[in-house]
Amino acid sequence: MLSKNSNKFLYLAYAGFITLILIVLLTACDQKPAGKKELSQKELIERGKFLVFAAGCGDCHTPKVFGPEGPQPDTTKILSGHPAEMTLPKADLTLVEPGKWLLFTQDLTAAIGPWGASFSANLTPDNETGIGTWQPDMFINAMKTGKHLGAGRPLMPPMPWQNVGQLSEEDLKAIFAYLKSLPAVKNKVPDPIPMDVLMSIK
Ligand code: HEC
Repeated sequence: MLSKNSNKFLYLAYAGFITLILIVLLTACDQKPAGKKELSQKELIERGKFLVFAAGCGDCHTPKVFGPEGPQPDTTKILSGHPAEMTLPKADLTLVEPGKWLLFTQDLTAAIGPWGASFSANLTPDNETGIGTWQPDMFINAMKTGKHLGAGRPLMPPMPWQNVGQLSEEDLKAIFAYLKSLPAVKNKVPDPIPMDVLMSIK
């Protein structure tokens, strides 16, 4: 037969065990479902870098240097857009009539098509000429709506916002975090030039 004291002990042990299980269950319920773990800032930037390289943003947004193997990304100016100091070679505009050709400068940072001329934006966090003062929403909305800063003029081709805008908000946030982590490059990219204005330039 158990004594009164050991009964009490068993009762306390039992109550303690139940409490422990409840604590474990409550803690588990409080956690996010597996796979939905929030990324740290470092992981977010890494993910953004991966996406930027996989999507080839630098093909158009990074100036190039020319070596024996042709155009290579200028690693001192990653994603800083069409170089402001570059003079555009004269273009035969009859070639870009609808149904004909698109023209690109050899570094792919400027293009001419039926819409006129467009220049890849500076995606580095310079405050005056890049995305330094942008908030994540401006970038996400620009990619989703195809409008400058998500609210202004339409973005011109060949910026593939229709494709980039398909990414999830988390992925777009990751891209933005990576862009914000880049060294700032001061480079004031020109606005697009509509075709009628381009035709009037001799
Ligand atoms: C085929 C060339 C090309 C590729 C690839 C490209 N872009 Fe662009 N991008 C452009 C051009 C050209 C512009 C300027 C459009 C304009 O001025 O209307 C631009 C503009 C932008 C802008 C400015 C938007 C605004 O609100 O003014 C952002 C941000 C941007 N691109 C991000 C990206 C990202 C991120 C990627 C990769 C996922 C990317 N681009 C890939 C050509 C490209």
